[in-house]
Parts: sequence; C-alpha cells; structure tokens
Amino acid sequence: MRLKIYKQQFLFCLFSLLLSSPAIAQTIIPIESSTNALVLQADKNNELAIIYFGMKLSNPAEYAQIAGASRQANDFSRMLNAAYTPSGTKNVMEPAITVIHADGNTSLDLRYVDQTVAQTDENVKLYTINLKDPVYPFSVKLHYKVYSKEDIIEQWSVISHEENTEVSLHKFASANLYLKADEFWLNQYHGDWAREMNPEMSKLTHGIKTLDSKLGTRANLLQPSVFMIGIGEEPQEDAGSVLYGAMEWSGNFRIDLELDFQDNLRIIAGMNNYASTYALQPNEEFETPKFLYLLSHNGKGEASRKLHSWAREYKLLDGKGDRLTLLNNWEATYFNFNEEKLFKLLKDASDLGVDLFLLDDGWFANKYPRNSDRSGLGDWQVNKTKLPNGVGSLVKEARKNDVKFGIWIEPEMVQPKSELYENHPDWVIKQPKREEHYFRNQLVLDLSNPEVQDFVFKVVDDLFTENPELAYIKWDCNSVIYNANSEYLENQSHLYIEYVRGLYNVLERVRAKYPTVPMMLCSGGGGRVDYAALQYFTEFWPSDNTDPLERIYMQWEYSHFYPAISTANHVTEWGRQPLKFRVDVAMMGKLGFDIVVHELEDNDLKFCQDALKNYNEIKPIIWYGDLYRLADPKENSVASLMYVDDDKESGVIFSYLVNNRYGAGSKLPIRLKGLDPDKQYSITEINIYPGRRTRIDGKNSYSGEYLMTIGFNPEVSARRASVVCEITVVE
Ligand code: DGJ
Repeated sequence: MRLKIYKQQFLFCLFSLLLSSPAIAQTIIPIESSTNALVLQADKNNELAIIYFGMKLSNPAEYAQIAGASRQANDFSRMLNAAYTPSGTKNVMEPAITVIHADGNTSLDLRYVDQTVAQTDENVKLYTINLKDPVYPFSVKLHYKVYSKEDIIEQWSVISHEENTEVSLHKFASANLYLKADEFWLNQYHGDWAREMNPEMSKLTHGIKTLDSKLGTRANLLQPSVFMIGIGEEPQEDAGSVLYGAMEWSGNFRIDLELDFQDNLRIIAGMNNYASTYALQPNEEFETPKFLYLLSHNGKGEASRKLHSWAREYKLLDGKGDRLTLLNNWEATYFNFNEEKLFKLLKDASDLGVDLFLLDDGWFANKYPRNSDRSGLGDWQVNKTKLPNGVGSLVKEARKNDVKFGIWIEPEMVQPKSELYENHPDWVIKQPKREEHYFRNQLVLDLSNPEVQDFVFKVVDDLFTENPELAYIKWDCNSVIYNANSEYLENQSHLYIEYVRGLYNVLERVRAKYPTVPMMLCSGGGGRVDYAALQYFTEFWPSDNTDPLERIYMQWEYSHFYPAISTANHVTEWGRQPLKFRVDVAMMGKLGFDIVVHELEDNDLKFCQDALKNYNEIKPIIWYGDLYRLADPKENSVASLMYVDDDKESGVIFSYLVNNRYGAGSKLPIRLKGLDPDKQYSITEINIYPGRRTRIDGKNSYSGEYLMTIGFNPEVSARRASVVCEITVVE
C-alpha cells in the first residue's frame, strides 16, 4: 500500500520534473510530507502565497478552498502570506528580501514562473520554485527539501540577477512561513558561558519578536537559533501541534516572528543581515543556508524523535556509527602538565576502561608557550618543554596502554602573544585604526582569506600526517568576533558571511581527506552547535558546566533538538553530587570522563569501571533508540527519561532527584512510554554503587500496558538520588 503511494508520488514527480508547471491561474503547489502539507498558491497575477501549513488532506483538490475559508481583517496588499516577501512594492510587513538594484531602485516584485520537483529517494523530494521580477532581471529560486517520514522541511533560497552591475542585498532570508491559529507560544532559549540552553516561554503578541545573533563565530553563546512554537496552545510533550525551527548556519542568524494584524504568524528566518549588505555580481548565485522546520501534531516528544532520527540518517556525521568513550585531561591538569603526568593519565584511561585519551589545551607554542589562556594560540608546534618527545611519543604510549589518542585544537584563533600574530597581522580580524578587543585574550583569524583557510586546514592535516594514528579531534572556538574587519576582503560587509563560508570550506577539505575520524564541536562550552556544522562533527560539547544537576536541565533542553549520540557528556568534579550521580547523568549521551582516575577511592574506581561496562552494553539503545521524556525536571521533584530500541524490546530509564526538600522523591509511579502494550517486561537496576543494594525487584514482570498506564516507581529518594534501570522484554 505504502509502496504504491510512493510509486504514484514518484511518477507524479517525474512527470512534474519533465514538464514543470507553467504559471496558470491559481496554481496550487502542495508540498507534502507523510503528515503535513505546506500549500503554496500562485494567483492569477502569479503572486505566490502560502495558503496553508498543517495536516495534509487526503484529497489535494480541497486545498483550493482553504484560502476562502478565513474571515479575518482585510489584507489590501494581499502580501501578508507571501511565500517569499519582497520589499519596496506593496509589502508593508517584515520582508524576506530587500535589494537595491544596479540603477539604485529599491523595489522588488517576485512572481511565480514555474516549479520542478526532484525525488532523490522514496523519502526525500526537492521542490524548486522559480520567482522572477517582471521589471528587473532578478530571480529567486525557493527550495523546499522534504523528508517525508520525518515531516521535516529544509528551506533555502538562491538569489541571482542579470543586471548591468552589482545589486545590493540588504536582506536575504532562507525561508518565509505563515501559520494560522488562535494563539502562538514561543519557546526560545538564552544562555551564556556555563549557562547554556535556558528555555523561556512566552505568548507571541502583535509585532515582531526577533531571535538573533551578532557574535560571528560562537554564534549560539547568548541565543541559539533553535526554537519551538506551540500552535494554538503551549507546546506539550505528547499532544498538540508544535513547530520546531532551527537555522543550519554557524554564524549570525536572524529569525523574525511577526504576529500580523490578521493575527497570523509570519516567520522569516535566515542569516542575519546585520552589517552584512551583500554586493551580488551579475550572474553570481547567492545561496542562503537552510532553515530547518518540523511540524508535529503529537507534541514535542514526537518532534524530537523525528528530528533525532533525521539527524542520524541525514545530517550528523556518522550519525549511525560508533563513538569513543574517553578520558579528557582538561580539568585534571588544565595547562599544567608534562609528558610524565600525561603518561600517568594514559594509564588511567586504560585502567578506567575508556576507548580514548583526549589531550586538551596547553600542548603547543614555544616562543609564547601556552601555559595559560593568555598566549600561544596560533602556534601549533608542540611545546618542547612540556613534551620534549612530541605528540608522537604520547600516541605511542597510548598504544602501549591500548587506548586511542585524540587532541584539542582551536585553529580559528590567534593571540597577540604568538608568532602567528607577529608574522601575519594581516590574517587577524581587527580594526586597523582602533584598539584591539579580546575575548578570552584572543582574536579571530580571518577565514574569508583563502590563505588563512589553507593555514587552518594545515593545522589539522599536519597533525594527522605526523600522527597517522590520531583518532579524535576536539575543535574549540572560544572567541566571538569583535571589530569585524578583514584585510583581505574589499567589501567589509561580506565578512560575517564569508567567515562562515571559509570555515565550511576548511571543514569540507578536512572531511574529504579524513572522512570519518570523530571530531567534537566545542565552543568554550556550547556556543556553537547547529546542523550545518554537525555535518562535519560527530558530537558537540553542550557546556563547560558539567555539574550534573545543571546538566539534567541542560541536556533535557538540548534533547529536544539533538540526539543523544551527538551530545558529549563528561564526568568531572563540578557539582556536589556523588560520583554515581555524575556518571549516571553523563551516560545520557556520549560518555566521557575528566577526573584524576588514580586519585579515586577504590569503590569509586570500581563503580566507574563497571558503569563503563554497562554503558558499552546499553549504548546502542541510548545512541540509536527513541527518546521519551517522562518527567520534566522543571515541573517535578524527579526528572526521568527513557530510551527504547526500535523493536520495543529493550530500553534504559534514567531518573534523578532534582529537589532537596524533605521527603522529596518518586512518590508516585512514573508512566513509561514507547513500549509495546502487549509485551511483558522486566526492569533491573544497573549502575549500583559497590556495597549498595537495589530496591527494584528485577524478577517482577509487567505488561507494556501496565507500565504505560500505571507506571513504574524507580524509588528515587535522597538516598537513591539517581537510578538507572534497564527494561527488557521477557520471552
Ligand atoms: C573551552 C572548552 O569548552 C573546554 O572544554 C576546554 O577545552 C577549554 N576551552 C580549553 O581552553
């Protein structure tokens, strides 16, 4: 049945592809996924509007009636719902695109010309819609890439012209959306170093709410581009309509949410046009980054699960592959180490039972040694005092200890106290006539310059060439862009855009030569994560704040948008919780450690070793399974979530006490989710601290129906503040 539908769709698409659809009165373009339809309509004047975005209808012919079904205030411009709103003609709302033509004229009108549809496989279709200005030789192609099963659309535009000289692009959104509902609730995020991903909910009021970043590099530090909109009500976990949105762009972004005078929501998302007017040459194509969105009618839970499986299938590098557990030395040593100390830590990694040892910041620079965060960035030669025998000797020692070896770099940066700065002041982003401003005592290299791109590529390439066994890179990025100015670029307002393009060029080259070596995307904590960057990285660092209590909240929020396999969590000395609590929390993702293992008490070491063995057993469920959020830490004394494998045969349940009041704990059973109601399950506690006994009777068996209706009590209390259980089908 399903195959038949696909076949029909495929034939239809092929047909459209061959003929394309010329503009006729009232062309309707339903862009459908398995559940939804985004319906565009070109009217008799070929003005293209969004007439519907919601659950799809089984008879597409009925879409034509939707436009006439609302009785809202008159829109005399008939542009509020434009599919890509131009400015300078009759639009009076927030535009998607603003230009100044070669002759100085500021008007733009975009009319539908035709469309094509290409189907890459059974699940993915690309709609391309051509728009042209009837007066100026100026065109925009709108692209909608639909991932049917996941109900995800990636939207972007390609802007070009054939005018005599350059056209200035003043705004150049990726996507323009339009939603109708009684009310809209925005869940946005804000943060700072060690305080990433704080959710904030508000009902959208008339006017424009803008989410944006002007930080240039670690663009998400204060506000990430991910957000959700509750349609008609606040977003709920397992019910209601919710739209997830995110820019796939690692630089400045801007998302305008405009509740218009008809009470409809216009969403315009793209790169930030702040200080970024772009001079587009004749016949040059300006391609915007992708804006990703997903509409679910079963709440945030379903939206997350769809996004996770999409990410693993299509975006995240090696999304269905393996990951390495690791021991990192950052918090164990900071900058203060030598070969002897590291040899000891390499043995620690082996004793602990992790896959890899990760050498962090501080291993490089000689004239201005990297002994603190005040010098050395840019000079990627091994520091001869700390490591007289080079990185090679560490790699060799790692091999002896039967662990792999990885290394930290921050190749986009430079410090005034570095040979790189002395030799190439022209490679540094700074204002020539002004005082320098530093962020963590450093400056950003000008990645718009191809020579700088070569340099950054070489930093990585040299490491691999000199150490072919190198198995992991942590790529950090601690500074924002201050004093945005490039010696290389003629047009300064291109810098923010060309920086990111330059970064992607480098990452493309790295991946062409080293396609799968795992790399962590880190940015002084979690200042930089998005799905464009994650095409090159296997995981990201959510925050330097590894206090497990904080991490429960933070990882909870990240879990809405990013799968566990991409989320690197390390056990450190942050926070007041016992080691077990810290390890349990770090297990809800990609597990690592950053502690001095040889100083651990025997029981602590034994606990960690056993926990790693458990992790190796259950990691496929956490990494590739479906996530169900059970009890929200913001609303309950106990936070709980679970992962379930595809066959609904095995799962892992994590539960934590997040409230220290007397008697707080799991007073009532917690309803599980995602199980098969007809199957019988047993639940066993794992990660039990040596000498402690479980309160969970692993011999009991429960039906899936029981567990999802009545629930299961993990017996969380002050004495059992973190509980990890395996749930397994009973034959
Ligand atoms: C910031 C990162 O988030 C930390 O994990 C660590 O690598 C430091 N940089 C090193 O300078």
